[in-house]
Amino acid sequence: MIIRHEKPSDIATITEITKVAFKDHSFSHQTEHFTICDLRAAGALTISLVAEVDGRIVGHIAFSPVTVSDGTPDWYGLGPVSVLPEFQGCRIGTALIDNGLTLLKSMEGRGCALTGIPTYYARFGFRHYPRLIHEGVPQEVFVSKPFYGIVPNGAVEFHQAFKQLSLVEKDAIADIIIDYEIEGLRVNKENKAIESIMKKRILAEMPDGKCMLRPAALAEYDSYFGKVAQFRATEMSRVHKNPIMTAIKS
Ligand SMILES: CC(C)(COP(=O)(O)OP(=O)(O)OC[C@H]1O[C@@H](n2cnc3c(N)ncnc32)[C@H](O)[C@@H]1OP(=O)(O)O)[C@@H](O)C(=O)NCCC(=O)NCCS
Repeated sequence: MIIRHEKPSDIATITEITKVAFKDHSFSHQTEHFTICDLRAAGALTISLVAEVDGRIVGHIAFSPVTVSDGTPDWYGLGPVSVLPEFQGCRIGTALIDNGLTLLKSMEGRGCALTGIPTYYARFGFRHYPRLIHEGVPQEVFVSKPFYGIVPNGAVEFHQAFKQLSLVEKDAIADIIIDYEIEGLRVNKENKAIESIMKKRILAEMPDGKCMLRPAALAEYDSYFGKVAQFRATEMSRVHKNPIMTAIKS
């Protein structure tokens, strides 16, 4: 097995391996490959290693910078990490993680954090520290590894690329954008995707029970949809201000 840095020609394979590894996992929204692409595009894929067996890429790991609210610099996030199902259990994940952590240290990294299966990552020295948190997840799945024994005191924020909308959420948003009206719209709050985008404050309920899309909140998750929603909102307010259109409307 060889562990090496990614090359441009590996990108399509990395996407495929990530999709396959996370397919059917209930904890995943199957958006991990989007995260890797967005990290790469943002220049935030600090380390991207592949595992090669007999010339074939069978595993991948990504590391990216995180921010810590107390200002501690040089901490990184681990993940996503993927091994093709037929190669799992052969220490490939272990080799990717060990090599990645060694590289991070050599780059003067001070620590690493992730959300994942605590029992798996415990073997690499990751554990949960109550003083270092990550908002929005059960704290027991947020684990970290200080390289020099110093645990920061604050909240860790991963790169924006980790804020991915699931395909059903994107579908729900696309429907809303298409149906959008200046008066706001009524939505079925029982729908899981609607419930989820309301929880993310992308869709906000007004006192009259109608809902409004919030382009700024949407852009935090998906700049494309954010721009479309913003455009739609601007267009609608322009139309609304036009007396002829208002007359036709009424
Ligand atoms: C998690 C993953 C990267 C591990 O890679 P791997 O090459 O299969 O793991 P290794 O062979 O290095 O390690 C095997 C050990 O990890 C344990 N392990 C693997 N997946 C585990 C899991 N989901 N939960 C707990 N332990 C796990 C195995 O039981 C085995 O334990 P043992 O050493 O006591 O026998 C790989 O299984 C994978 O791609 N899974 C799907 C994607 C995923 O879950 N990524 C991580 C998200 S946090």
